[in-house]
Amino acid sequence: MIDDRRVLVGVSGGIAIYKTCSVVRQLTEAGAAVDTVMTASAAEFVRPVTFEALSRRPVLTSLWDRDHALSHLHLGQDAELILLAPATANLLAKTAAGIADDLLTAILLASDAPILAAPAMNDRMWANPATQENISRLSERGWRFVGPAVGGLAEGPSTRPGRMVEPDEIVAHTVRMLRASASSLNGKRVLVTAGPTREKIDPVRAISNPSSGLMGYAVAEAAFLRGAEVQLVTGPSQLTVPHGVEVVRVETTAELHRAVEEKLGTSDVLIMAAAPADYRPVSTSDHKLPKTDGRLTLELEPTVDVLSSTVDKRRPGAVIVGFALESADGESRAREKLHRKQLDLIVLNMARETGSGFETPTNRVSFITEDELSELPQLPKSEVAERLLDEVEELL
Ligand code: CTP
Repeated sequence: MIDDRRVLVGVSGGIAIYKTCSVVRQLTEAGAAVDTVMTASAAEFVRPVTFEALSRRPVLTSLWDRDHALSHLHLGQDAELILLAPATANLLAKTAAGIADDLLTAILLASDAPILAAPAMNDRMWANPATQENISRLSERGWRFVGPAVGGLAEGPSTRPGRMVEPDEIVAHTVRMLRASASSLNGKRVLVTAGPTREKIDPVRAISNPSSGLMGYAVAEAAFLRGAEVQLVTGPSQLTVPHGVEVVRVETTAELHRAVEEKLGTSDVLIMAAAPADYRPVSTSDHKLPKTDGRLTLELEPTVDVLSSTVDKRRPGAVIVGFALESADGESRAREKLHRKQLDLIVLNMARETGSGFETPTNRVSFITEDELSELPQLPKSEVAERLLDEVEELL
């Protein structure tokens, strides 16, 4: 996703540096060329050789090391992104004031690259007006920040912000900044639905289906990484909500309908990956139904069709994507849904195929539009999500 992208990681001295090791490793594994520059106090916490091993590139620590140290200022000019992690109160203060008294601050002063900073400091230092003023000044200059989070500090537990956010979150924001500029989804509002819905029979029993939510969550994550503002409306699911994604939890198809209806008018894209229950019990018992010897007959009524019943809420020009999980006559049934539900694209997957559909990490899908059909091989759902968003970008 970020092959050969040039990232400069500036490391200042704080105990959170142990998380930066993981960040550098993850970015390197994702294909980026990561140059690490450490301040002198950072090198007191972790030796440069650690970052050299993780990034497989030399690490710089001083204006005076190696042969022509000043020429290393070019590292900041060549970087596509500078990530500061941890960004201590001292580093933020110096850069806000334009001080350049070591290699990292000199690089920052001499670079036009976009900057993402992950602050890490004592909670009182973060709350101090001096730090807050520095953050405002740096934000005005276009710096972006991730965190700080609330949680334990080196000095003990805390209920106030100060702690550096976790590596995965820093990596997600870094990848997003690198990818967003090349994506037509950058800044677009993307509404994704995921998972099953659940229609209660009584307090302990329900009608549902085995959808895990994986496909929708993968689409939400991929859209965030392309710079979109993502809202995820999810039925019951055990999955972790991807970083940066706003989540709305629903249980029934009626609740899903209400959430989509409310958000659709401001969405540029709707990706309807949810598997809503099509029927619900005519009445829900408020107590657990006792077991009897004979048969039990449930009377069911249809739920609302979310896509069809919200057509008038769609924003003109919005791209609407549906899914079709079929067990026979896939293409013709999917095309019929494409028309009936007035979709721009439908993703067809076959229910009875191994490695496709519900409860698998992979999927084999076809993308069907009015005049095209493209069949994909079996791929991880994260890759299917990327390919789907490529199609959406074409349609935007
Ligand atoms: N869908 C919806 N509202 C429902 C059921 C489904 O909006 N009550 C959406 C799904 O999220 C999916 C698309 O419609 O994007 C097709 O879903 P599918 O279950 O294949 O279609 P149905 O219309 O339910 O038809 P059938 O179950 O008969 O195949």
